[in-house]
Amino acid sequence: MTGAIRFLLGDEPRKVAGLDPNLTVLRYLREQEGLCGTKEGCAEGDCGACTVVLGEEVDGRLRHRAVNACIQFLPTLQGKQLIAVEHLKAADGSLHPVQQALVESHGSQCGFCTPGFVMSLFALYRDGGARDRGVIDDALAGNLCRCTGYGPIVAAARCMGAGDDGDEAAVLAQLASFDDGEALALEGGYFAPRTADDLAARLLAYPEATILAGGTDVGLWVTKQHRRLEPIVYVGAVAELRRLEVTAERIEIGAAVTYSEAHRAIAEAYPDFGEVIRRLGSRQIRNLGTIGGNIANGSPIGDSPPPLIALDARLVLRRGDARREIALEDFFIAYGQQDLEPGEFVETVILPRQASDWRFRCYKVSKRFDQDITAVLGAFNLKLEGGRVAAARICYGGMAATPKRASACEAVLTGAPWSEATLSRARDALAQDFAPIGDMRASAAYRLQVARNLLTKVYVETSEPATATRLVGDRQVAYG
Ligand SMILES: Cc1cc2nc3c(=O)[nH]c(=O)nc-3n(C[C@H](O)[C@H](O)[C@H](O)COP(=O)(O)OP(=O)(O)OC[C@H]3O[C@@H](n4cnc5c(N)ncnc54)[C@H](O)[C@@H]3O)c2cc1C
Ligand code: FES
Ligand code: FES
Repeated sequence: MTGAIRFLLGDEPRKVAGLDPNLTVLRYLREQEGLCGTKEGCAEGDCGACTVVLGEEVDGRLRHRAVNACIQFLPTLQGKQLIAVEHLKAADGSLHPVQQALVESHGSQCGFCTPGFVMSLFALYRDGGARDRGVIDDALAGNLCRCTGYGPIVAAARCMGAGDDGDEAAVLAQLASFDDGEALALEGGYFAPRTADDLAARLLAYPEATILAGGTDVGLWVTKQHRRLEPIVYVGAVAELRRLEVTAERIEIGAAVTYSEAHRAIAEAYPDFGEVIRRLGSRQIRNLGTIGGNIANGSPIGDSPPPLIALDARLVLRRGDARREIALEDFFIAYGQQDLEPGEFVETVILPRQASDWRFRCYKVSKRFDQDITAVLGAFNLKLEGGRVAAARICYGGMAATPKRASACEAVLTGAPWSEATLSRARDALAQDFAPIGDMRASAAYRLQVARNLLTKVYVETSEPATATRLVGDRQVAYG
């Protein structure tokens, strides 16, 4: 057992022991290291003022990703490199190209948000730079600026260039030296098992433990609800849960795989599902958050369950040595109640690939395009044969206390001609399936209307060739 967290702060090794495992990376930087360039705005992952960059070994290369320091716990830095805004300046005091570009483009006024923008742009700079406007928008969607406006910041992104200004081999060697092969176990109750067997044993021994994946929900329990979590069992170091396996029949997503890691495989198989993931939270959130966490939290407005249910995804749950496989739709029992025993955890999400006569569509409706919580999400999976609907799996989020299939609507569609008359009956049937609530995101009437209109959208998109378009980068492309 290792009792200290080892990581690189910039290029300086750190070995930290005796701190509260609930301490966030943001508080560590500001209060323990005196590095106050990283700001706290919202303390809930929304504003980006706290953005830092993590360096990590992936397939032998050093990869960088922007994350929100305000909701990450310090122990999750084990074996990684933490880069804050102070680390960008060169030894001779000159600004980093990203910072220089912001200065030259007049991209900062009050400056409070600026360090976060610098770090998001720095991650982009390290990741090949600003290839097109879509890439820039995606990189900046998790950063709010209320005074400069985005024009000058986007202009900075366009002229900052790209590069790899670190010593990759040296950093990788340092990171490797922090790994003593042992699982991290800290005073104050934090365990980071490395194997699924060890995780299963830990959770049997501590069934009351908080399971921590990306922390994009759990982090807020500490920063917003002021809870103290003990013990914490972190799943992000478990090799089996970090695995993404793509075969001809299915995509197996380990419960600790992040959205960013799973995005490409899912988008290639199901472009609309890919688009929902692209709009889920922000780049910083997707770099941390997992589909496993999105399922396990049982939220009625989680974005990944409706498409997964429409696609007939299955879950592998594990408790001790016992595994069981269930349909994802059976996992959600009622509001706040999931089919998960104490000590049990989500191990794998299995997403089947389907035959080409099935048509899958999925749409998220929220007030803002990026970084917003869903009002209604509709996922539609139809098997169309000779102008008829041979089979239908339709699931909505935001319409009930759990993600829920529209069984009355499915019954109307199944076996019927795919026509305007059927569409009209199917739209009516949605009122039997759902009695949504109204809240600050949307009224009940709006939700039902939108749910119906999304069905019409599917009809239009699947009835005439190339009526659908999708944004790829900054281009609209036909999508049949
Ligand atoms: C700013 C912001 C924007 C967001 N935007 C969206 C959005 O657009 N759409 C959306 O759906 N969500 C959104 N979320 C919510 C959140 O990002 C997602 O629910 C995310 O998928 C949670 O994953 P995580 O890995 O961070 O989970 P964590 O926070 O680590 O855990 C979430 C829950 O799952 C449990 N858990 C985690 N892994 C397992 C496991 N393997 N087995 C059993 N239980 C487990 C945890 O104990 C906890 O109860 C947003 C959150 C923030 C802060
Ligand atoms: S402080 Fe707002 S995202 Fe972290
Ligand atoms: S520069 Fe003022 S809020 Fe961003």
